[in-house]
Amino acid sequence: MDYHFTAEDFQRIRSLIHRHAGIALSEAKREMVYSRLSRRLRALGLATFGEYLARLERDRDEWDAFVNALTTNFTTFFREAHHFDVLRRHLRTRQGRPIRIWCAAAATGEEPYSIAITACETFERLDPPVEILASDIDSHALAIAATGRYDNDRTRSLSTERKQRYFVADGEGLRVRDELKRLVRFRRINLMDAHWPVPTPLAALFCRNVMIYFDKATQRRLLERFRPLLGADGLYFAGHAESLLHASDLFQPLGHTVYRPAP
Ligand SMILES: C[S@@+](CC[C@H](N)C(=O)[O-])C[C@H]1O[C@@H](n2cnc3c(N)ncnc32)[C@H](O)[C@@H]1O
Repeated sequence: MDYHFTAEDFQRIRSLIHRHAGIALSEAKREMVYSRLSRRLRALGLATFGEYLARLERDRDEWDAFVNALTTNFTTFFREAHHFDVLRRHLRTRQGRPIRIWCAAAATGEEPYSIAITACETFERLDPPVEILASDIDSHALAIAATGRYDNDRTRSLSTERKQRYFVADGEGLRVRDELKRLVRFRRINLMDAHWPVPTPLAALFCRNVMIYFDKATQRRLLERFRPLLGADGLYFAGHAESLLHASDLFQPLGHTVYRPAP
């Protein structure tokens, strides 16, 4: 270890990220926290975690870097592919009505662009009647999402047809077409914020693979706030490891981690 990392440093970091982002880091994340934050210490030329924590108290910009360092942004295009089949069928039933979709932990953008592609395919046009709001707490991930540019290894799972139809070549990678980008609005939203600037009612809410980082009480509070955002026939898409069975008073399962608001 290059830096001395005490149990107290770890405790303070855990409590700060929990309070600010709802993320509950277990004891097992100690190594991860050390390795990600020691990069920040190095970049800032600091000698100890104590100095880093002091800096965090007075430097707003470092807060962003701190949160960005401790979030896990793993995602892929069409992750949990069955959700997009459900979405396709759902969009067909919404013809003629405004279709608002919120992708609440959009990371680097693969998920909202997969939603946009599904809408284009469903309506067989590049300007389908959908508005997608994609948000995340991580400003760095959102900046990548807004460029819509991905290295080839990140688009490998996409079919040749989708690549040709929805992307253009960009150096060693691909960039989503402007028409697709126009369907998605990116915004930084911390799910712990008291107010979410989200247009309602939502036809669909994607909040996948982020609840697993929150404790049960935080999950419950979020589900209570999510439910009224959905229209009566809106759908909630959860991540593969996120069962809402403990919240059956709020959401009813439709199978395969898709839910609708309980009446
Ligand atoms: C593992 S990624 C999931 C990405 C995508 N939803 C998927 O399923 O592929 C989790 C994302 O949640 C975001 N996140 C963590 N805490 C958050 C919070 N309090 N508010 C908003 N987003 C948060 C992270 O920045 C990260 O991009």
